[in-house]
Amino acid sequence: MSFIVAIDGTAGSGKGTVSKLIAEKFNLCNIDTGATYRCLALNVLENNIEIENKEKIIKLLENINIDIQGTNSNPIFLLNGRDVSNKIRNKEVTDIVSQISSIPEVRLKLVDWQREFAKNKNVILDGRDIGTFVFPNANVKIYLDASAEKRAERRYEENIEKGINTSFEEVLENIKMRDKQDKEKEIGALKIADDATVIDTTNLSIEEVVDKIEKIIEEKFVKG
Ligand code: DC
Repeated sequence: MSFIVAIDGTAGSGKGTVSKLIAEKFNLCNIDTGATYRCLALNVLENNIEIENKEKIIKLLENINIDIQGTNSNPIFLLNGRDVSNKIRNKEVTDIVSQISSIPEVRLKLVDWQREFAKNKNVILDGRDIGTFVFPNANVKIYLDASAEKRAERRYEENIEKGINTSFEEVLENIKMRDKQDKEKEIGALKIADDATVIDTTNLSIEEVVDKIEKIIEEKFVKG
């Protein structure tokens, strides 16, 4: 029997960072499901496929092979055997990934991949629809959120560290747009699972968020 932790929430709420730390602490396999959509989005760009051409995008899915290797703290995303860990974070990919992930056939195929990759493992998955759709029977479900301004502030600081030159206003607009797109998807829309624990991270440090989730997992995982 495997143990499944689902971390869903809005863009910039801290899902990725928190998931890595929790994975380390409990020796869980960390699956960044957003990266699977990013791999396909990168492949779409590399093949010069128009984003409106859903047929070609769906066809591309037949020949796409995604794998995660490396460690929880330093995962390596492989697309058809090629390390694309950095490329999938590019602005060009970020700009189209939401639209790509809105295509129902894409979701079904990549959700299958996520379920298969998680099979027979103790896992933590971060995404938007993990607790509601990918693993509705997950042992622990967490929904992370924070004010749009706070999330934009975090992204803005990350960008500065990475040398990416965008204004705070631009980042905030982007966060608001992504919230709208994530919540309005036909399938896989971002919503709170009935049995999820909601954590508002606006005024919490990463350590405080991790601490709260650790306590919830310890209750279920360690004590049974
Ligand atoms: O978390 P992220 O920014 O890497 O996600 C990339 C995109 O994929 C984003 O537009 C939301 C979408 N996504 C999704 O629809 N379902 C998931 N389980 C994870 C991400």
